[in-house]
Amino acid sequence: QTLNWNPTMVEKQGFKHYMLKEIYEQPGVFRAGLARYISEANHVQLGLPAGFIDSIERVEILACGTSWHASLIGKYLLEQVAGIPTTVQYASEYRYSPPPSLNNTLVIGVTQSGETADTLAALELAKSRGDRCLGITNRTESSIARVADAIIDTQAGIEIGVAATKTFIAQLLIFYLLALDFAARGKLTEVQIQEFIEGLRQLPAYMERILEGQERYIEDLSRLFTHTKDFIFLGRGINFPIALEGALKLKEISYIHAEGYPAGEMKHGPIALLDEDVPVVAIATPGAVYEKVLSNSQEAKARDAKLIGVAPIDDLAAHEVFDHILPIPIVDEIFSPVLTVIPLQLLSYHVAAHRGLDVDQPRNLAKSVTVE
Ligand code: G6P
Repeated sequence: QTLNWNPTMVEKQGFKHYMLKEIYEQPGVFRAGLARYISEANHVQLGLPAGFIDSIERVEILACGTSWHASLIGKYLLEQVAGIPTTVQYASEYRYSPPPSLNNTLVIGVTQSGETADTLAALELAKSRGDRCLGITNRTESSIARVADAIIDTQAGIEIGVAATKTFIAQLLIFYLLALDFAARGKLTEVQIQEFIEGLRQLPAYMERILEGQERYIEDLSRLFTHTKDFIFLGRGINFPIALEGALKLKEISYIHAEGYPAGEMKHGPIALLDEDVPVVAIATPGAVYEKVLSNSQEAKARDAKLIGVAPIDDLAAHEVFDHILPIPIVDEIFSPVLTVIPLQLLSYHVAAHRGLDVDQPRNLAKSVTVE
């Protein structure tokens, strides 16, 4: 295990834990990423070598943990925005059972630390098979730089909390921009790309609004769950990976059993777990699957589960279904994960803090896992 940061390099700046500080840094990280990777002429400039993606027809993403969740959103973006077929694999699985090699594949290793043993080994394998390899990392001086043909720096700054927060947001931004880079090959017009960039530019202010408006409320709400043993998180489409991430955050720092599910799968098993002691958190953002998530949530309510919705505040339908709403501003669905993850980070943080746990250094976990 490597922890190459020096605690005195980074202060908590008045926050009780590094994790909370890092949650609050997210709007700034997103803004800084936009400033670095979008030119004055409003073009995406990820700094990749000339022609790097020109012949690429498909993408394979390898990652672990929270980086794997960011990669699932990356897949959604690359496929839905840019029309590039994409797979996401756990690096630990890929390294022992890689899929058949196909020409013109870009393999992307996503690792905030750049040191995760499984991700490095998986990327090395892809490289040895002749695939073009890209690394997305928060540590450009790390081992992944030696393996990948090119590196994109998520530049989130040092993250000390073991549970990843701001590095996740920074990875999402890179995937939005990479999808735009691919889409610029013909899937989107210049005008559509400009609109998309405009949409990204609006997100930091919305993130700030969530942080300012909700922290106290979520702190109070989380007291209800200090003794809860199980949680279910539901999401669909681009917010399914956020359900996984919400559940992972809670497991990591609160030691509460939590599962993330695509909301439509609930009826195929998890619904049997539900009763008044198993709260359900549903991510219900306006878009293609909004009504579906609400009706899936209704089914959970019929089993007496306490329902928490990450949903727009003024939506009457949401008010009827959910016992508690963690409000999020309405944005185009494609941008919603950048916002919906924030209340879930705060929820897991406050539940863990109420339980008196070591939020920044949870038991049994390491910031980066450099052994297999
Ligand atoms: C560890 C950390 C997680 C992290 C995962 C992948 O398990 O505790 O927070 O998501 O490693 O780390 P990486 O550095 O590869 O993104």
